[in-house]
Amino acid sequence: MEGASHELEFCLAQVDDFEQVMSISVNIYNGLDYLPDRYHRWLKDPLRRVILAKKEGKVVALLSARIVDNSRTAIMEGLRVAPSERGKGIAGIIQQYVFALVKSQFPSLEVQRYTRQGGLNPDVFTKFRLICSQEVLDLHFVAEELQPMVDATIGHLKASKHEWEEPIQLAAGDVKRVFLDRQVVEEVLPGGIIIQDWIPYKPLEGNLEVLLKQNLTWMADSVVDPTVLSICSSPYKVPAGANNLCLNIDIFGKDFPRARNQFLSQLHKALSFLQGPTYCFIHLNKTIWSAMHSFCQTVFGLTSQKIIKGQCVLEAKL
Ligand SMILES: CC(C)(COP(=O)(O)OP(=O)(O)OC[C@H]1O[C@@H](n2cnc3c(N)ncnc32)[C@H](O)[C@@H]1OP(=O)(O)O)[C@@H](O)C(=O)NCCC(=O)NCCS
Repeated sequence: MEGASHELEFCLAQVDDFEQVMSISVNIYNGLDYLPDRYHRWLKDPLRRVILAKKEGKVVALLSARIVDNSRTAIMEGLRVAPSERGKGIAGIIQQYVFALVKSQFPSLEVQRYTRQGGLNPDVFTKFRLICSQEVLDLHFVAEELQPMVDATIGHLKASKHEWEEPIQLAAGDVKRVFLDRQVVEEVLPGGIIIQDWIPYKPLEGNLEVLLKQNLTWMADSVVDPTVLSICSSPYKVPAGANNLCLNIDIFGKDFPRARNQFLSQLHKALSFLQGPTYCFIHLNKTIWSAMHSFCQTVFGLTSQKIIKGQCVLEAKL
């Protein structure tokens, strides 16, 4: 597969392109780029296309499309243009190329979705519909130092009796039952969407089957009548600093005490295998960001650096 536009050639990314892709990615996302960790896995995913734009044989841009929602939606991820080539419209050109490619290979595609940081230029909304937005709380800690504090905090909350209800870790069957429940979709999930580590999925059985194959921890406050749900990713290495890990926790629901308890339970579980400096991103409803931030400041002495200005899920027709 090849195509050309404005001296650009497009091709499917290969294993051997890794070094060049990394060289155009230096310092992006404040050193918290997920692509070094995912690149090789992305290439093996049959429902994903990773496209490179090359100029005179050199990689100048990358964009990936992941097909979800029973082949109705293409999620665009990983967009990046080489620093020396920015501001020339290459991001727009590679997007058009990838849209045409996936549409030709998956004719049932209807929409494309992006998850982008907040603080967007209003022009974006002339092209995209905003499906939902979440706030992001970023914490940076050393796992071994935080672990005893998390354990002690859970202990205090349990001792107070009325503050603690044990979050339930969901087994695969319960994940489907809870996340496909109509009331959960309408009242708990933001915009009726499951956002897992920046990827927005419709609550469909096929999507959950794909997600259940990943090493995720699913929790709820109740299986019968859930009001708060959460999903924790497995940690991955990021380029910032030596041995820095990144962990994402997506929390759905607006009840702060229950969201806090799930955050603590997710963290407690993750800290049993985390080591060293860790960036933890908690994606949660705007209405509980301040309460969660104050809690983390008061109890753990951790303050958000506001590295990410919110998370917006955008959709447009393909
Ligand atoms: C953001 C980035 C890809 C823009 O590349 P660029 O070639 O300089 O962008 P241009 O201004 O030439 O092209 C703008 C087009 O890209 C789109 N675009 C710009 N930023 C975007 C973003 N963050 N996500 C999706 N599309 C974006 C614009 O909507 C515009 O599309 P249009 O031509 O259809 O209107 C580039 O600055 C970059 O690589 N930054 C570092 C990585 C990064 O932040 N990626 C964003 C991932 S969400």
